[in-house]
Amino acid sequence: MNSWSEFHIGDVRVRPNIVLAPMSGITDSAFRSIIKDANPGAVGLVVSELISVEGLSRQERKSLRILRSVASEQPLAVQLFGWEPERMAEAARVAADQGAAIIDINCGCPVPKVVKRGGGAELMRQTERLRLALRAVRGAVSVPVTVKIRAGWDDRSRNAVEIARLLEAEGAAMVAIHGRTRKQLYSGQCDWELIQAVKASVRIPVVGSGDIDSAELALRRLEETGVDGVMIGRASLSNPWIFQQVAALRTGRPVRVPTEQEAHALLITLVERLAAQVHPLVALGRARGLVCRMTKGVCGGPALRDAVMRAPSIDTLLALLRSAFVEQVAAVERFAYAPAGDGDALPRRPALLHR
Ligand SMILES: Cc1cc2nc3c(=O)[nH]c(=O)nc-3n(C[C@H](O)[C@H](O)[C@H](O)COP(=O)(O)O)c2cc1C
Repeated sequence: MNSWSEFHIGDVRVRPNIVLAPMSGITDSAFRSIIKDANPGAVGLVVSELISVEGLSRQERKSLRILRSVASEQPLAVQLFGWEPERMAEAARVAADQGAAIIDINCGCPVPKVVKRGGGAELMRQTERLRLALRAVRGAVSVPVTVKIRAGWDDRSRNAVEIARLLEAEGAAMVAIHGRTRKQLYSGQCDWELIQAVKASVRIPVVGSGDIDSAELALRRLEETGVDGVMIGRASLSNPWIFQQVAALRTGRPVRVPTEQEAHALLITLVERLAAQVHPLVALGRARGLVCRMTKGVCGGPALRDAVMRAPSIDTLLALLRSAFVEQVAAVERFAYAPAGDGDALPRRPALLHR
C-alpha cells in the first residue's frame, strides 16, 4: 500500500483511506459490520448514520440502538446531529462511552425538520452556533471530533472553504465534505473542484464525498484532488465489494467481481443480522428499504421488491429472500448445464445484485 493510502484523524489511523459514508436508515451496526466482513482490510473507517442528540438525551430507544456496535467495526465514527451545544456535548460523552473512536458532527443534513430547528446544513449558516457546538463537544470528549459539511446552503452561499477554516481553527480533527449544496439535495453535479479547494485551504485531513461509483473513480478522485480520503455511500448498496475492488486496483491485483450467489448470500446475512439485532418491526422496515435499494436494476428485482414490501413480518421477508435464492441457484445450474449451441433457449442469467 502506498504511503498516501492512509491518514490520521487525531490519533486514529485510517488505513486505507476509503471510508463508508454515513447513510441514515442504512449504516447501522448490521450494515457496517457486513461491509467490513465483505471487504477485509479494505475499509479504513465506518461512520454511523446520524443520531439525534435530542433522542440520546431523552434515552430514546431508537437513538440508543443506533449507537450499538461490534468490535469489528472499529474504528467507528458516530455522527451526531443537533443544535444545542450543551446537549451535543452530553450526547458526545454518551457516544464515546459506548465505544465511538471518533465523534462526527452533522453539518449537512438537508431534511426540513432538522434544518428548521437549527441543525444539519443550517449550521453552515449559523457559524457562531457551529463554533460553540464544536467547542462544547471537543471539551466533553477525549476522542477526536470531526465535522461533515456540504458545499454550502445554496449556489449563492458556497461557503465550504470558509467553514473548513473555521473548523480547523476550532480544533476539528478532520472535515468531510459532500460537494453539493443543501438546496441541491442529491441532484445535479457534485462539485469536486470545491472539494479540492477545501483540501488546499486547510492543514487538517479532508475527506471528499459524492458520486463515487467505481474503484477507478475512487482512485481518480484521490489523485486529482489530493484529498486525504474518500467516502463511498450509495455505491456500497449496489456493490458492497467496492472497497476490496479499490484495494485490488491499487495494488495491481485483479478486481474480483463476486458471483450472484455471493451477492444473494450477503443480502440474506445482512437481513438475518438485522433481525437478530433489533425489534422485529424495526428490522422489517429497515430490511424493506435495504432490499429495495440493493436489488435496483436487477433481473427479478421488481417482483422480489413487490413481495418484500407486502411481507407482514421479518420472518416472512427472510423466507422470501431464501426461496428467491433457491430459485436463483437452480436457474444458474440450468444455465451451467444447458447443452452447447442452445444459446437462445437458455434462461436469462439471473443477477440479484448488479455491479
Ligand atoms: C439514503 C442516504 C442517507 C444519508 N444519510 C446521511 C447521514 O445520516 N449523515 C450524513 O452526513 N450524510 C448522509 N448522507 C450523505 C452521504 O453520506 C454522502 O455524502 C452522499 O450520499 C454522497 O455520496 P455518495 O454519492 O457516495 O452516496 C446520506 C445519503 C443517502 C443517499
